[in-house]
Amino acid sequence: MPDEIVVIEGDGIGREVVPAAVEVLESLDVEFEFVAADAGDATKEATGEALPAETYERVADADATLFGAAGETAADVILPLREAVDSFVNVRPAKAFPGVDALRPETDVVFLRENTEGVYSGHEDRLSEDLSTLTRVVTSSASRELAEYACEFVDDGRGPAGDPDEGFTVAHKANVMRETDGRFREEVLDVAAERGVDADEELMDAFATKLPLDPSQYGVIVCPNLAGDVLSDLAAGLVGGLGLLPSANVGHDNALFEPVHGTAPDIAGKGIANPTAAILSAAMLLEYLGHVEEGQRVRDAVEGVLSDGPRTGDLGGSATTDEVTAAVVDRV
Ligand code: NAI
Ligand code: MG
Repeated sequence: MPDEIVVIEGDGIGREVVPAAVEVLESLDVEFEFVAADAGDATKEATGEALPAETYERVADADATLFGAAGETAADVILPLREAVDSFVNVRPAKAFPGVDALRPETDVVFLRENTEGVYSGHEDRLSEDLSTLTRVVTSSASRELAEYACEFVDDGRGPAGDPDEGFTVAHKANVMRETDGRFREEVLDVAAERGVDADEELMDAFATKLPLDPSQYGVIVCPNLAGDVLSDLAAGLVGGLGLLPSANVGHDNALFEPVHGTAPDIAGKGIANPTAAILSAAMLLEYLGHVEEGQRVRDAVEGVLSDGPRTGDLGGSATTDEVTAAVVDRV
């Protein structure tokens, strides 16, 4: 049976870049069963719910999901969807491409961000007129699970260097948050030692300075939830734009792939959105489902188009989404 892929376009340019990514997937010699599902602002307007139960169940039952973006309802859509695929790690590569104006063209890093706890665990309260609190949750089990994933990722040569000896860097603030990040750090380093993976560490604030100054020092970076969110956005700034960056929310036997960008209301509906991030998200989906060679072909095609054109407006070109997609399909 072909793998079942749930396709959620969502709002804004999600409706433009997700069909582009599906077109690229359809141009390959891999059979998928695509199932369309709805979520986002328009769905809320039509049905009263940003994320209908039917969509949640479809995603939970699928082999993988490709998601575009949701507008104001983004948090109501994406947080439950990450839960639907039981995602414990958010994978966010940030790579500068030839032909794209980047602040730091030597950047080639992959963030592996803890995706379930930390300060995003949802335990937040308004206790009085003056006081709000947040409980930061860190478990040994989630920290170790992330570390196991990082070790496998590195061992499989999936890090930017492709060399397992490069190991990974863990970024944390265990000198201040001794109990929570202390536990995270200890468990991650412990798993790395057990698995014989080389792991070094950085305090996350110092890391935020060192990364932009010299990204070539880093490859795979393992982070707690909030740190990974912020630091991977910082890395996005180094490589030249939101239209280029894919991401994966990986669970135990399910995963959701999405461009990092939102609905881009300023350009939505004009057919000029850059489909690269969505197409690279589809390449991650291919690799996740075991179609490693096809994933690489898509990546190579995207790199070729970025370097030779056509390019969309965000990259200084004047091509449409369709023109860029057709050029990628041509090279695939
Ligand atoms: P955004 O990523 O939608 O746009 C930021 C800027 O980048 C805009 O100028 C936009 O035109 C440009 N941009 C983004 N993707 C592009 C692409 N593929 N091609 C060309 N240009 C691109 O972020 P913003 O403006 O902060 O948020 C807009 C809406 O998207 C909000 O309603 C927000 O809640 C939602 N959002 C949803 C996300 C999700 O569903 N995962 C993630 C981020 C934002
Ligand atoms: Mg973010």
